[in-house]
Amino acid sequence: MMGPLLTSELSGLRLLNRGKVRDVYEIDAERLLIVATDRLSAFDVVSPTPIPDKGRVLTALSRFWFGYLGGITAHHLTDEDPLALVGTARERDQLAGRSLVVRRLAPLPIEAIVRGYLVGSGWRDYRRGGEVCGIRLPDGLREAERLEQPIFTPSTKAAAGAHDENIDFEQASRAVGRDTMERVRELSLRLYRQAARYALTRGIIIADTKCEFALDRSGALVLIDEVFTPDSSRFWPADGYAPGRVPASFDKQYVRDYLERIGWDKRPPAPALPDEVVAETARKYREALERLVP
Ligand SMILES: Nc1ncnc2c1ncn2[C@@H]1O[C@H](COP(=O)(O)OP(=O)(O)OP(=O)(O)O)[C@@H](O)[C@H]1O
Ligand SMILES: [Mg+2]
Repeated sequence: MMGPLLTSELSGLRLLNRGKVRDVYEIDAERLLIVATDRLSAFDVVSPTPIPDKGRVLTALSRFWFGYLGGITAHHLTDEDPLALVGTARERDQLAGRSLVVRRLAPLPIEAIVRGYLVGSGWRDYRRGGEVCGIRLPDGLREAERLEQPIFTPSTKAAAGAHDENIDFEQASRAVGRDTMERVRELSLRLYRQAARYALTRGIIIADTKCEFALDRSGALVLIDEVFTPDSSRFWPADGYAPGRVPASFDKQYVRDYLERIGWDKRPPAPALPDEVVAETARKYREALERLVP
């Protein structure tokens, strides 16, 4: 067994992209290899310190959800074994448990965000004007309050280094077409409802989430990237939830608190993380997996 993986290095495949968390390799015109590393990003900057097993947790959770939600939408997973793609034991070690062979598709240029609770940029926008992404909400809601109905609040997909921006349904429709956008909204809301209902039975509130979709050749929507992981969603312990106060989230709270405490200016490079912050964060990621996956 190898230690945490900050950066994958595979000799036989072309690297297409190192994202904040995932390294994406080309297999051929139809397929990609996605490797979830142990990189963590906080305040949109990647930390130099890996979180052991984080990539495995994200991979196992996404796999679980793609299966669980299979009745609602097609997804990008294939059943091919990624380990068969590389030649050496050292390379297989890098991939084990943290890699997926997926259909290579063109991602839609928007992020499909669903909010069941009013927090983060949703709360910020609501306080400013009573609405989020053009959706009017009742007066008097408190921070982290549960919404009567989940809302679909798309955002742009910002280029590396920039921040995503909330947009309204019209702007999103101009980017991808109204018919597609209506289908994305419908699917995203159904996915969120089903996942959130399930997670609650396991003691976790999924406060909000971000999904990504692509169109396949037949024009069908396909769910891609990762789904309902602590990186793409806000997970809160259901225990002790009360509106008016933002619960400590499952995962990055320790990291964020630490970085605030030491007064980092949130500009790259991010400082290294001390052992106890790393250990506690790794524990929280593993706990999310253990709670959610039977
Ligand atoms: N099936 C797929 N086909 C093509 N691209 C995909 C597929 N699934 C995921 N991707 C892309 O792979 C990348 C995954 O890397 P990662 O999540 O680390 O990126 P990121 O830092 O979040 O970057 P981005 O801001 O581009 O999302 C994302 O850009 C995502 O859009
Ligand atoms: Mg991503």
